[in-house]
Amino acid sequence: MTRSTLWRQEVTKLEAYVPGKSIEEVQKQYGLSEITRLASNENPYGPSPKAIDAMNAAAADSHLYPEPTSAELRGKLGTLYGVDPSQVLVSNGADNVLMLIGQAYVNPGDEVVYCVPTFSVYRTSTVVMGGVPIEVPLTGDYKFDLDGMLAAVTERTKLIYLCNPNNPTGTIVDCAALEEFLKKVPPRVVVVLDEAYGEFIDVPSYKTGAEYVREGYPVISVHTFSKLYGLAAMRVGYAIANPDVLAPVLAVREPFPVSRMANSAAAASLDDTEYREFILRTNREGLAYLSEQLRQMNVGVNPSYSNFLFADLHRDAAPVVEALMKAGYIVRPCKSWGYPEHIRITVGSPDQNKGFIEALRTILEA
Ligand SMILES: Cc1ncc(COP(=O)(O)O)c(C=O)c1O
Repeated sequence: MTRSTLWRQEVTKLEAYVPGKSIEEVQKQYGLSEITRLASNENPYGPSPKAIDAMNAAAADSHLYPEPTSAELRGKLGTLYGVDPSQVLVSNGADNVLMLIGQAYVNPGDEVVYCVPTFSVYRTSTVVMGGVPIEVPLTGDYKFDLDGMLAAVTERTKLIYLCNPNNPTGTIVDCAALEEFLKKVPPRVVVVLDEAYGEFIDVPSYKTGAEYVREGYPVISVHTFSKLYGLAAMRVGYAIANPDVLAPVLAVREPFPVSRMANSAAAASLDDTEYREFILRTNREGLAYLSEQLRQMNVGVNPSYSNFLFADLHRDAAPVVEALMKAGYIVRPCKSWGYPEHIRITVGSPDQNKGFIEALRTILEA
């Protein structure tokens, strides 16, 4: 059996996702008892205590299928974003929402435009459907080349993805420029704003994707509970769009994609504003601390609007990543994105950040 005979042709163009190293793997490899993972943009504090209580309460009903529409959660998200619950779709993580968008919109030969480097799932969800990814490089300062993206739009363009803030660079699209861009995109093209890190944007006047949805643009705003809300293991993501844009995505969604525990945890998290403010504040402080310390070590740091930093070591990052692992810190090497001298560092707790900086300083000075 060879790859090319039995597999769908589109699948032969894809590789399985290679995740960052797991804590267990690194513990075993280096014989360490304590590992700090600053590689997957997870929340260092865990879920809100209210979410944990809600999960415990929901566990006893695990023999019953979950409420299939995530009605309570959609109601709360509708209130939060000022949209009708019918404009919200909840599914099994933002990854799953992005795959559903590909299934809903991309015919063989359709073109899908996005900037690179960015989140890998846009390519997967396009290629698996027989679509053609049109990749536009970011500008020299890691910003989106919006003019380049517009120039790449043809009659075959079906979707445009904008990861805002962008993973792995942490950059955002200027708000006014985004609005101009949306006005220029042909109305038959759907713009997917992946706002997995959108809650971390610390710019008071910044508009959320939901606002563009409310203004009637053919925009799908994608979010997750994996980052700000610390629920990565629960797998809850959602999309906000107008009903005509959302309908085909809903049509391909599985019947019960969100477990009872996940639905309850996500809904309870939205009620915990104190927790949310704490996470946002400590993230802000952590970003400032890490940026300052890294610059003092002559590491290039891109201003970040997320919970991670894209850092230029100005040397091959691989041996540094390896040495950090031996010291108990996992960070994300950026070679697969075409940046062999960069690493992506998730903001941890103050202790984790301090420990990481000390370990990196020792390695770079050696
Ligand atoms: C930009 C971006 N979008 C989507 C996701 C997927 O999030 P989820 O955990 O909800 O699948 C991630 C996860 O890292 C991400 O970085």
